Amino acid sequence: MTHTILEPLPEDQWFIDSQQLRSFVATVREISASTIENRMQTLATLEPYFQQLLQQQEWLSEKFMQVNPDSRMGGGIGQWLLYRALDRSLTVFSLVIPPGSTTPVHDHLAWGLIGLYKGNQQETVYRRVDSGDAEGYAELEVVEERSLQPGDIYRLLPPTGDIHAVKTISETASVSIHVLGNDTGCIWRHQFIPEYKSVKSFRSGYSNAPCKEEEEKEYA
Ligand SMILES: [Fe+2]
Repeated sequence: MTHTILEPLPEDQWFIDSQQLRSFVATVREISASTIENRMQTLATLEPYFQQLLQQQEWLSEKFMQVNPDSRMGGGIGQWLLYRALDRSLTVFSLVIPPGSTTPVHDHLAWGLIGLYKGNQQETVYRRVDSGDAEGYAELEVVEERSLQPGDIYRLLPPTGDIHAVKTISETASVSIHVLGNDTGCIWRHQFIPEYKSVKSFRSGYSNAPCKEEEEKEYA
């Protein structure tokens, strides 16, 4: 497997034209730069601003609330990039999970806030309990099961809360907004099968954006 190094992008990328999102991203950048030593503080300071963004129900256009039959996550899950910083240190994307679909058990490998925008989800949070030394082997323990309503936010601060699976339990697709301190769709991260105690590398990609410039044609 090739773990490609991700080059910086020529500029910040915006996939949606929204003043609300622009001003939110400006706030995230300011807060994350001033709390670089303490990511717990980054998340706590950001949360009220994120809450406001989630409450505004008009900024996210229909296009970013669609399921994606060709999803690399499987299950028709759409992962729509809304904003990406040129150095890939910040992304905002929506994740759309069709009714009854579940994500694989996966990690994110960066600090982040995830908030539910539409629908209802059941989230299972795991903790890794083995040493991580044996190739392909991972033992997970369930830490928490919770159901999420629109407006609910949860925090990622690896390793705490970083491994989970999410299922849509509403009759319509669920839409969650992710604010992550990395280029989550493009990095190699992990997918787990807890019942087989197995782990493999995976890259989810995005439904609407390539990871490298030369892949741009595929998305045109
Ligand atoms: Fe996730």
